[in-house]
Amino acid sequence: MEIKSLEEYNNKIKKIIITAEEIHKEIDRAADYINSLYDGTPILLVSILKGAFLFMADVCRRVAVPCEIGFMCAKSYYNSTVSTGEVKLTMDIEQDISRYHVVIIEDIVDTGRTLSEVVKLLKKRMPVSLTVVTLLDKPSRRAVDFEPDMSLFTIPDEFVVGYGLDCGEFFRNLPYIAVYGE
Ligand code: IMP
Ligand code: MG
Repeated sequence: MEIKSLEEYNNKIKKIIITAEEIHKEIDRAADYINSLYDGTPILLVSILKGAFLFMADVCRRVAVPCEIGFMCAKSYYNSTVSTGEVKLTMDIEQDISRYHVVIIEDIVDTGRTLSEVVKLLKKRMPVSLTVVTLLDKPSRRAVDFEPDMSLFTIPDEFVVGYGLDCGEFFRNLPYIAVYGE
């Protein structure tokens, strides 16, 4: 994406639908969920880059059980707002997860293809347990049968940016979630 001016950039941010304060309040709820689920047992938090990088950073700071972190990179959107339907792993975690309680930290479940593929792949490696926590959920867009164990916000079928989510690699640094539009 080419952005020629700050004005052009700001004009693409149509409407803030979730404020930074709302995000942080819900992140406390996600951390409470993880803390109560594992109750002191060590876990491995696995975040899917790049979209979940801020969510991971904020969740892991509130997690009160011993935890390791790992990163995977899965690509499904190629510089546009339309999914290609294809999921490609471009980076994998280095841990052998067969002795771990794994918690996937993801930004959004849209068609569900990315998480359903990632979960399938990780289950083959026989983790002790596998839990999926996602910041956003767009259930109206689901193309495959997939439900996260916890989702913090359900949003309508609109393309959103901010707090890790991008359009053409921009807008990830916005502290809130906003609807994107040309
Ligand atoms: P899915 O495989 O269709 O569920 O899509 C998952 C990935 O698509 C997410 O991890 C995001 O990176 C990206 N994605 C889906 N919806 C949006 C959106 O509204 N804004 C930005 N990225 C999105
Ligand atoms: Mg993502």
